[in-house]
Amino acid sequence: MKGKTIVLVQSYQPNPEKSLLMTVFAAETAKDLGAKKVILAAPYLAYMRQDKRFHPGEAISSRIMAKLLNNSVDKIITIDPHLHRYKSMKEVFKVPAKNLTANLLIADYVQKKIPNAVIIGPDWESYQWAEAIAKRIGVQSTVLEKTRYSSRHVTSKMTKPVELQGKNVVIVDDIISTGHTIAEAAKKARAAGAKSITAIGVHGLLVEGALSKMKRAGVTKVITTNCIEHKTNGIDVTGLLAEELRKEK
Ligand code: R5P
Repeated sequence: MKGKTIVLVQSYQPNPEKSLLMTVFAAETAKDLGAKKVILAAPYLAYMRQDKRFHPGEAISSRIMAKLLNNSVDKIITIDPHLHRYKSMKEVFKVPAKNLTANLLIADYVQKKIPNAVIIGPDWESYQWAEAIAKRIGVQSTVLEKTRYSSRHVTSKMTKPVELQGKNVVIVDDIISTGHTIAEAAKKARAAGAKSITAIGVHGLLVEGALSKMKRAGVTKVITTNCIEHKTNGIDVTGLLAEELRKEK
């Protein structure tokens, strides 16, 4: 490792705590053995959603995770990290962090596979992706207003109505975790006459029976990128990462 740039690839699933610790161990060891630079390529960067203390006594785990990484890696490359209350990675990371986006890959997928599409962002945070993808392929987009009462209870309503009757609706979100957000959006799209509903997630955590929950709500198909390995993977992000890493030479 002496004098080399070392790249650690980590997607933090299915055991984020273990993965974080393994990353720190590996990075520190690489440096100990003389590595010139340690880059963490994390297609999915876990803990970013916990960006405040939602309930008394909770850890703000994004900050703690960032502290650990700030001390052990020299650079982070990630894909569509969850930036909600943090407006930029600089608010948490001292080391340089490069955000890539799967938007173009998702747009290509929709253009090739889903005719007569309308893109929906299930909440305001996800609308940035929905809007960019819709613009890229020249279709309509809309956003739902989501209210989250708890991690397992969300409701949503359409505030910017578009015609969904007979359309192939594509709901796009950065993370699909319990599937509640997508399920609520799907119910609205079904009620508005959608012909089919495809849910596309950059990061498919898909926990707590998310797939069957979304199916029951009317979702026809779930597609994720391989930021996290899962049977729903249909969009390959390896080229994105490889291209970025090529710049390090
Ligand atoms: C939240 O802000 C994210 O963008 C996702 O909408 C959320 O993480 C999805 O979680 P779930 O699938 O549990 O509703």
